[in-house]
Amino acid sequence: MRSIPTRGRFITLEGVDGAGKSTHIGRIRQVLEARGLEVRLTREPGGTELGERLRDLLLHRQMALSTETLLIFAARAEHIEQVIRPALRAGTWVLCDRFTDSTYAYQGNARGLGMAAVATLEQWVQGDLQPDLTLLFDLPVEVSLARRKQASLELDRFEQEDHDFFQRVREGYRARALADPERMRVIDAALTPEEVGKAVEKIIESI
Ligand code: TYD
Repeated sequence: MRSIPTRGRFITLEGVDGAGKSTHIGRIRQVLEARGLEVRLTREPGGTELGERLRDLLLHRQMALSTETLLIFAARAEHIEQVIRPALRAGTWVLCDRFTDSTYAYQGNARGLGMAAVATLEQWVQGDLQPDLTLLFDLPVEVSLARRKQASLELDRFEQEDHDFFQRVREGYRARALADPERMRVIDAALTPEEVGKAVEKIIESI
């Protein structure tokens, strides 16, 4: 008899810009697919047609912090309804580049909104939905700034922030990881891409 399909797992990737999340997300997908799992790769802000339009505004338009936070959660609400919950219900594993830990680190801590406001919106928009596993690509701010300078891409509204801002992002993330070490695993992203890849694979294999 076939077993009842189990719910897919929800894995999120977090870290300051330049920490290498995007490089590793594709590799994680390969590892999971090699085990016969269905995988859906997605990102925030974005992940739906409406969400990608909101992302464009978020990355390029000046706006109040409250507006920014509400737009992030508006995109997230759509993403959860249209993509994440249906995929998980169908047994598909969802790999998401950034999720609500980003909002705690960037808006809550770095921009100074505070954690309580983020927690209120999180509760309203997500209900009981939480990632099963979060990989935090942790990197000293100096290293992430140097890497981004090297890449010399056009900078969006977040990437134009200064050293102190990214220090607060990092601290925000690390506080989240300390509070929930079961879910949130810290990866030393200052290592070589091969070493980081191995560390990531080890964690993925363990689940
Ligand atoms: P990202 O896709 O990682 O940008 P890039 O492709 O340039 O690496 O994320 C876009 C930006 O959005 C990033 O600088 C962080 C910001 N962000 C927040 O400030 N709060 C959030 O909740 C999310 C999801 C992203």
